[in-house]
Amino acid sequence: MSEPGFPAQEIDTERPHPARIYDYLLGGKDNYAVDRDAGDALADVAPEVRPGVRANRAFLRRAVRYAVGGGIRQILDIGTGLPTSPNVHETARETAPDVRVAYVDNDPIVNVHANALLNRSGGTRVVLGDLRDPQAVVHHPDVREVVDFDEPVALLLVAVLHFLTEEEQPGRIVATLRDALPPGSVLVLSHATDDFADRSAAQAVYGNATATLNLRPRSAIERYFDGFELVEPGLVQVPFWRPDSSPPQGSGEIGFYGGVAYRRA
Ligand SMILES: C[S@@+](CC[C@H](N)C(=O)[O-])C[C@H]1O[C@@H](n2cnc3c(N)ncnc32)[C@H](O)[C@@H]1O
Repeated sequence: MSEPGFPAQEIDTERPHPARIYDYLLGGKDNYAVDRDAGDALADVAPEVRPGVRANRAFLRRAVRYAVGGGIRQILDIGTGLPTSPNVHETARETAPDVRVAYVDNDPIVNVHANALLNRSGGTRVVLGDLRDPQAVVHHPDVREVVDFDEPVALLLVAVLHFLTEEEQPGRIVATLRDALPPGSVLVLSHATDDFADRSAAQAVYGNATATLNLRPRSAIERYFDGFELVEPGLVQVPFWRPDSSPPQGSGEIGFYGGVAYRRA
């Protein structure tokens, strides 16, 4: 399941993939013409998308530092994306070199690249797994090798839930994952929204992609944190979550909410 060298013929280069579109928008090189076309089309209809993905990635780093700074030593990152330096374990280990990370993504190309790059370091595992089967993720033997669910865990669901439709019951999926986390655990979550602009044209770009884009309002995203306590400043647009420098101009238009919450004892 998580072996390197996933058969190349199973990698679809005909349709845009969320991971590769995101990689292109971040300035990465692990993408194909279909992904670049989709990325350019997105930027045409939603000009804030490039600063938006950068701000999302910066939120991820700040949230990881926050969680590790609070004592968390194990991270389950679902919807990892293509390797983007600094990766989660690199960011985490700036604070604590013993942090262990399980990376999970359902895209075979992410699996190939992540295995090549991230599995080299001890204390990380790369798993081909699907968020839509949360029990399989939590019980996956490779995840269990680095994550002990009796100790606090940081669960990262960063820019992934908007690839699930309502029919796939993202609320139930997140609840299953939350229930697997012991007290002291942290949920780090970001999600695309159309609260700040009509983004139906951006959604249409994903019409031919391997996953649809399901934008949600703040009230729906906040429910993913049920039973957990959001830390200050709560669920906000990602550039405004504990910024370490002045949020760039145009941050108010960025269509990603982000938040971090604790499971109290
Ligand atoms: C936009 S990228 C986000 C990457 C990273 N979390 C970040 O925020 O920088 C979304 C990732 O979620 C993955 N993904 C989408 N649906 C998924 C699913 N059902 N299960 C696991 N991963 C999924 C995609 O393959 C992609 O790599």
